[in-house]
Amino acid sequence: MSSIKVKPIHTFRAEFEVPGDKSISHRAAILAGLSNGECKIDNYLPSEDCLCTLNAMASLGVEYEVLESLDGYGPTSLIIRGRNMQLSQPTEEVDCGNSGTGMRLLAGLLAAQPFESVLTGDASLCSRPMGRITKPLEQMGASIQTRGEKPGCAPLRITGGELKGITYEMPVASAQVKSAILLAGLFTEGKTAVVQPNETRDHTERMLAYFQINSLREGDEISVSGGQIPNARDFRIPGDISSASFWIVAAACMPGAYLLIKNVGLNATRTALLDVLIRMGAKIEKVVLSEEYGEPYGNIEVTGQQLHGTEVKPEEVPNLIDEVPILAVAGALAQGKTSIRNAKELRVKESDRIATVATNLRAIGGNVEEFEDGMEITGGSPLHGETLDSYGDHRIAMAFAIAGLYAQGEMVLTNTDCINTSYPGFVDHLAAIQSGKSPA
Ligand code: S3P
Repeated sequence: MSSIKVKPIHTFRAEFEVPGDKSISHRAAILAGLSNGECKIDNYLPSEDCLCTLNAMASLGVEYEVLESLDGYGPTSLIIRGRNMQLSQPTEEVDCGNSGTGMRLLAGLLAAQPFESVLTGDASLCSRPMGRITKPLEQMGASIQTRGEKPGCAPLRITGGELKGITYEMPVASAQVKSAILLAGLFTEGKTAVVQPNETRDHTERMLAYFQINSLREGDEISVSGGQIPNARDFRIPGDISSASFWIVAAACMPGAYLLIKNVGLNATRTALLDVLIRMGAKIEKVVLSEEYGEPYGNIEVTGQQLHGTEVKPEEVPNLIDEVPILAVAGALAQGKTSIRNAKELRVKESDRIATVATNLRAIGGNVEEFEDGMEITGGSPLHGETLDSYGDHRIAMAFAIAGLYAQGEMVLTNTDCINTSYPGFVDHLAAIQSGKSPA
């Protein structure tokens, strides 16, 4: 089990790119695999989560050819040969590893196939709620057994088949649930619609449009009609703003620091962290360079300042949900109170992120009050180095590694292999920043 050690720094200047977007990589593997021909995918994220989805598609008969790889990790550029919507039955259980997105999106796909399949994953994934997707998919006509030790949890035994279109009002604002239903809808006669209680990331809708599938957005409802086939096209994945957010916070809170993150995704359903940091007094400029592949991407420039606390608005929460651990660190470094509520979903992420953030922040001298649906951080007290567990959660590991840049003494993060689920190369990037260089 690996660990990382972090020493404080007092300023930095850096200019680099982060690896490809995780959410978009999952969707690219799935839609290219369903398409009617060959798709060249560039800047695929070679993280464990996205490799699981690629392997899952391979187990359904999708072939791919690797053009370029990141040493020791996996493909970054590949050709995926679409199966024209015709998948084959996997011969073994499909392993989604640690990935909630992989499992939920694939469940939507498999619910519509005329065969039985099993989706499984690691202990963390097999303890996360799957009822949120089994319920609508069963309403569409699939039969799904949740066979986990905890009720409603994976492994999922899916008996798919012909589905009927539904209009589903999501009780939680979840892009994963929305995407699972829309993917099932591609195989379903007539219209399948999802109504979201709040705006959630719209990568699936954008990628459907890019692959020339008609989907319709009317108010809070997104719908798709079955019988359409994604038209094979090449795609380039922008950098992952969730990965960039660790460096954005690292720079934003450090007076004198300067950071330029290049070619990163700037989809407005993912950039709420930037809005919150700007409210906290951060100096952040973003410039959209292109939307060539249906997703806006560009550069983010950050100049460090002393920040002050703020209140995160309820409607911002789904669009910064993955950034809460690092936002909590920003809250601890800011003056005054930062409040993050309406975020109960954090309790069912890769760890219970309200508990794990609060435990680790307190251990290093932070001041945090925990609520069932969030936390309030009173910033400004000095942080000190400690040995902290990641709880097997990549975003906890990275958020507290960044806290180490600000803490007195040495911060040690244990159980950090999980970082590879979303950010291969993070440890090298951190080492470069600590030695005053730009990551390569
Ligand atoms: C994701 C959606 C979010 C997010 C997850 C990735 C996606 O989950 O937390 O890391 O790619 O659709 P929910 O939509 O379930 O909130």
